[in-house]
Amino acid sequence: MERRELEARGFLVTPGFIDLHAHLREPGFEESETIASGSRAALRGGFTTICAMPNTEPAIDSPGLVAEVVARARAARGARVLPIATITRARAGRELADLIELAAAGAVAFSDDGSPVDDARLFRHALEYARTGDLLIIEHAQDMSLSRNGVMHEGAVSARLGLPGIPSAAEEVAVARDIAIAEMTGGRLHLTHISTRGAIASIRDAKRRGVRITCDVTPHHLSMTDDWVGGSRAFAWERGGSLAREDGPAPVRSIDRSPSSRSRPSLESPPAPLATPYDSATKVNPPLRSWSDVRALWDGLADGTVDGIATDHAPHASVKKEVEFDQAAFGISGLETALSLVLGGVSVGWCDRDTVIRALTSGPARVLGLPIRDDDWIAIDPDAEWTVTPEALVSLGKNTPLLGRRLRGRVVCAVVGGEVRYEGGLRGASPVGSR
Ligand code: DOR
Repeated sequence: MERRELEARGFLVTPGFIDLHAHLREPGFEESETIASGSRAALRGGFTTICAMPNTEPAIDSPGLVAEVVARARAARGARVLPIATITRARAGRELADLIELAAAGAVAFSDDGSPVDDARLFRHALEYARTGDLLIIEHAQDMSLSRNGVMHEGAVSARLGLPGIPSAAEEVAVARDIAIAEMTGGRLHLTHISTRGAIASIRDAKRRGVRITCDVTPHHLSMTDDWVGGSRAFAWERGGSLAREDGPAPVRSIDRSPSSRSRPSLESPPAPLATPYDSATKVNPPLRSWSDVRALWDGLADGTVDGIATDHAPHASVKKEVEFDQAAFGISGLETALSLVLGGVSVGWCDRDTVIRALTSGPARVLGLPIRDDDWIAIDPDAEWTVTPEALVSLGKNTPLLGRRLRGRVVCAVVGGEVRYEGGLRGASPVGSR
């Protein structure tokens, strides 16, 4: 390998981020993403390791398919890709997959993500089986009888837009069930993309009791509310949602916290950005929730209830999104915007930077039982501004409600196994001996 010297002074250098939850769509949906495009997009976002969800076609439910993902990822030379295999055969929720054989082939965890394991008895058996091999089960906690045909968070905004809602209880009922079964079996359970205040409270309680559970939250649930479906584009911390909120503080249209700003009439501040309502780029499962849910996720991060920030990167080809809201696929393309979103919350003091970096590095490593590698690292320019455009995104999935938005914070270099695999603005990066 060629040796190089990199000048990273002035940048923030951290271990490479580890994403517990990304959809790479291969095999079966290569028009939405491939292992190569997704693992390159990951590097742009600072993720040197990503866990690939198995809701592909076919679903990753056999050792041969796990080995195929590993081989394709190796050839792509992007981020490291760790395959997650299904809990049940074909993700059909009827019989368990061969978890031990799948682990031997390289699966780092098991999930039917996109759907929960609806049958509680089968879920119990999954956790018991996983326990025998100390395997990790990752659950998409959602009571399907409550979420039914819902397409967004159930609340004042869904009522105004006339869209069927997914109530917070759909997640909270499922989280309560999952905790009870984890406690009964002693199996290792990770709850992914947690989105509600009530779910965070249950997980906090369960952890205090010593239940072996962990959880993650996504950058979009940390930054956006259900107002976004109605056309707002104000981040949760901008407090200036252009639409009325059912909870949270009164809109003040500014994040300026200087003493003088408090007495200033709110109308002098710039209006919060707006977009067209019913934009299918805001459709995601679990749905974007209320302001108080967002605050609870940040509180969970700060007090250690939340173990990791995971993107739930869900790229979709335009044909799946450029349809009416209720017909559109769920999902937001998130690998490349994750860092900027979470730094937004840090910049207003909702969490300190070290906590957020831990939730992107050592937190997920601990969930997976993996060491932090010295030879996987990134350099970040926290002040660099960039505009989210389809061309700026390496992912084939351009489905993000952030298109056109100027964000702050960029990865300038990503190193995997000591090899520079992405370089975007690191000063003085030249081969040793060439100067
Ligand atoms: O929004 C989502 N998209 N949520 C999921 O659980 C699945 C994912 C996907 O596969 O597109």
